[in-house]
Amino acid sequence: MTQNYHSKTNDKIIGPASGSPRDNRAQTPPSAVVDFVSHSITQTQRCGSQLAQHLVPGVIILLEGDLGAGKTTFTKGIASGMGVEGYVNSPTFTLVNEYEGRLPIYHLDCYRLESGQEALDFGIEEYLDAGGVTIIEWPERISEILPPDFIRVSLSYLTDTKRSLRLEPVGSKYIALMQEFKKSAFGSTL
Ligand SMILES: Nc1ncnc2c1ncn2[C@@H]1O[C@H](COP(=O)(O)OP(=O)(O)OP(=O)(O)O)[C@@H](O)[C@H]1O
Ligand SMILES: [Mg+2]
Repeated sequence: MTQNYHSKTNDKIIGPASGSPRDNRAQTPPSAVVDFVSHSITQTQRCGSQLAQHLVPGVIILLEGDLGAGKTTFTKGIASGMGVEGYVNSPTFTLVNEYEGRLPIYHLDCYRLESGQEALDFGIEEYLDAGGVTIIEWPERISEILPPDFIRVSLSYLTDTKRSLRLEPVGSKYIALMQEFKKSAFGSTL
């Protein structure tokens, strides 16, 4: 299957342009978007770990951000929140690491891929369809083959110890999940 789910108009994965005639996708309400500054590795991991409490089978989490932004650090938090014991590291060379938690976790790092086709050749669809939690670092590399609904986590470097984090659902499927997460982790959806 080589469906084109997304048009790639810049480096980010986006849905159809807002307001275009073909745009029948739900707008993401601010109540489902989390924006905050993490002051430490622990805070970044805690955010991942709290998100993990709300994850459901089949969910896809895209982790965007430069080298060293904190994508793998965030993933460690998700894994720990899912009950994974043991070492979680970057699958840069192996492409995917699997962990057994409350749900299976498939942690992919697409940094070395040049196209979505390479990911299809690798068998990415088997992971996406396996009913686990698929976490993808460097999803920009394979944006043309990604499904339309996912949670996007964007991290950026602020200082040696601080990172900005933005978490948002793309598509309508995970809006309620993100609202629940925001309410339980931050006490409100404002
Ligand atoms: N607040 C913070 N949140 C996350 N990481 C932080 C924070 N402060 C410092 N760091 C450090 O930043 C680095 C983040 O590395 P990490 O491997 O998570 O990045 P990455 O985005 O996965 O990079 P890559 O694209 O190379 O895989 C780690 O060395 C971590 O200790
Ligand atoms: Mg990484």
